[in-house]
Amino acid sequence: MTTNFLRNALVVVLTAGSLQAIAQFTQAPLPYAPEALEPSIDKATMEIHYGRHHKAYITNLNTAVAGKPEEKLSIDALVKGITKETAPAIRNNGGGHWNHTFFWNIMAPGKGGMPSGELAAAITKEFGSFDEFKNKFKAAGAGRFGSGWAWLIVKDKKLVITSTPNQDNPLMPVADVQGAPILGIDVWEHAYYLKYQNKRPDYLDAFWNVVNWDKVAELYAAASK
Ligand SMILES: [Fe+2]
Repeated sequence: MTTNFLRNALVVVLTAGSLQAIAQFTQAPLPYAPEALEPSIDKATMEIHYGRHHKAYITNLNTAVAGKPEEKLSIDALVKGITKETAPAIRNNGGGHWNHTFFWNIMAPGKGGMPSGELAAAITKEFGSFDEFKNKFKAAGAGRFGSGWAWLIVKDKKLVITSTPNQDNPLMPVADVQGAPILGIDVWEHAYYLKYQNKRPDYLDAFWNVVNWDKVAELYAAASK
């Protein structure tokens, strides 16, 4: 009986250890209900995007980093350390985790509208007007061939629009244009196809209805210091 007890206890300890090891990266709750961004982003898309796609990146990332140095890093540090030599599973799933967490947080229900304060002034200074900025950002998203992201970043204290393929992002040393993301949009088909089908430009237009400019301004202030 004692032997059985010890064996069972060992199994529990080992199981707990394994769980801890594979749960290095975890998914924060979606900061709003899945239907909260309707009609711009529909409930079914949000449920699948957050609950399956983002979740799968985390599951696959935990598998990819098991027993590797990346296992002990924060997701920020992991992404900032990605090089051409990094295993594709860590690059793709690490980027996928970082990008989606970022994306959920720069949107919010009842938002949209226009930026204000220093961010608004910086946008006007860099792009001429808010409308010109929106046109250029949309063009970056529409022009990204295949799957990827469009970004507004702070680079050397200036605003720059860029885009990345797959799940790369501008924090990665492998990105063509590096900087601190303050706004981004997922242009993978999984982000819009249920509602918009092949009309990616319509999804890019609807995105402006849900941008949380307060959050973007906060990120801009932090990145411009
Ligand atoms: Fe996505």
